[in-house]
Amino acid sequence: PAHQPLKGKRVLVTAGPTWESIDPVRYVANRSSGKQGFAIAAAAAALGAEVTLVAGPVALKTPAGCKRIDVESAEEMASAVKRALPADAAVMVAAVADWRPKEYRDEKIKKRGSAPPALMLTENPDILTNLAASDNRPALVVGFAAETEDVIDNAKKKRKRKACDWIVANDVSGDVMGGDANRIHIVSAEGVESLDEMPKTEVALALADRIATALQGQAKK
Ligand code: C5P
Repeated sequence: PAHQPLKGKRVLVTAGPTWESIDPVRYVANRSSGKQGFAIAAAAAALGAEVTLVAGPVALKTPAGCKRIDVESAEEMASAVKRALPADAAVMVAAVADWRPKEYRDEKIKKRGSAPPALMLTENPDILTNLAASDNRPALVVGFAAETEDVIDNAKKKRKRKACDWIVANDVSGDVMGGDANRIHIVSAEGVESLDEMPKTEVALALADRIATALQGQAKK
């Protein structure tokens, strides 16, 4: 396409869930199709960006023009993100599992026996928070917030807590999960921009366009 406002820019995107293994056959995870993240990677590439897409386990084709790094766990995703730096913008869309089993069992846990096993969990690294605080911080750090209530208020708090530039809030109380449409609110220091519900591919293009504008603004300063 002729319109390439992200040409020469490096954009890092995380997408999909993470799987946290319990034993060789079992895991805990968050619910995520990866569709919105993959659409954002595709949109950024279409606008000319050099895109690295760090993907959790999803059944989606690699978008044209993106370098894809497949990972499984949050810890793997965290190190892949570090290795992918530097970047001009990072869009963290992955639904990273907040916790992982405290211990991984090399052998399949047997069903035989008495009570079901108790699962002890431990906290995963917060990839977005660590990226926003790192020496290698991209000029624009965008996080996502899937909420079912007080969507905008929670997003504002999350933006501050995670020290990112924008939080893209989406209301997942409906059938956003796994669906093809999304309704987002972009929360930044300037305020809140609410977009109409539209296909995830169009949400991605709208966001990529705003990222291009923001990076151009920074370059002029
Ligand atoms: O705190 P919460 O999980 O709602 O934050 C969502 C945002 O933080 C998303 O951008 C998600 O990709 C990112 N995140 C992360 N690492 C985690 C948890 C969330 O990068 N361990």
